[in-house]
Amino acid sequence: MKKPLLCANWKENKDLDEAKNWVSEVGGELEKDNRQIIVCPPFPFIFPLFEEISQKNWKDFISLAAQDVSHFEEGAHTGEVAPEMIVPACKHCLVGHSERRKYFGETEKDVVLKLKDLFDLKIIPILCLANLDQAKFYLENVPELSQKEAILVYEPPDAISGGGAYKPEDENAVNQKIAEIKAKINKSDLVLYGGSVNPDNISNFISMPNIDGALIGQASLDPASFIKLIHQSKL
Ligand code: PGA
Repeated sequence: MKKPLLCANWKENKDLDEAKNWVSEVGGELEKDNRQIIVCPPFPFIFPLFEEISQKNWKDFISLAAQDVSHFEEGAHTGEVAPEMIVPACKHCLVGHSERRKYFGETEKDVVLKLKDLFDLKIIPILCLANLDQAKFYLENVPELSQKEAILVYEPPDAISGGGAYKPEDENAVNQKIAEIKAKINKSDLVLYGGSVNPDNISNFISMPNIDGALIGQASLDPASFIKLIHQSKL
């Protein structure tokens, strides 16, 4: 039976109380269902949530991922967070999200450096791909990508929700694109879809043979909505 992987990307949202409340509501539900999810909180919440998850013995259900890391070495780089600093709380780390490119000028070369650092530290990257050319570029420049475990996300920037409005890509088109990505990668990494996934459309996506799960922004913020997503993603 397919067990779709759901990954919640909170982006720049929530305060610490809301973050803890989300974990306690969603964790309780996952425990009942024996499901595992990944959540990407803002940096300041990572370690408090890690403590909470450890105390409740929920590490098998909730895995934490940072939303990004620095490609600079530890040192005099004000405001940056090195990948070493998210260990041991984060088993995974989101990298190459199109919002990093759109708002902060991140380049594909920066992403290459980040990927190498993450692989060195045995943190599993959750690599966002806006198109096939990016997949090709990263494969050519990061040999580890064809050898070590990674999670990939096909996320066309135009499909990302904005101002509360959802504008998902057609699930058949996504299925086809992901088939092409899988053929390029040529190993058994999970490939998720990201972009306006919500409780009403999740089942359309995850019922497609090539889509292994979803990266969810807007619809992951409210714990009740995320719990609905968990239920709707049972196949
Ligand atoms: P969205 O965001 O679900 O709000 O479209 C997805 C993402 O950007 O990760």
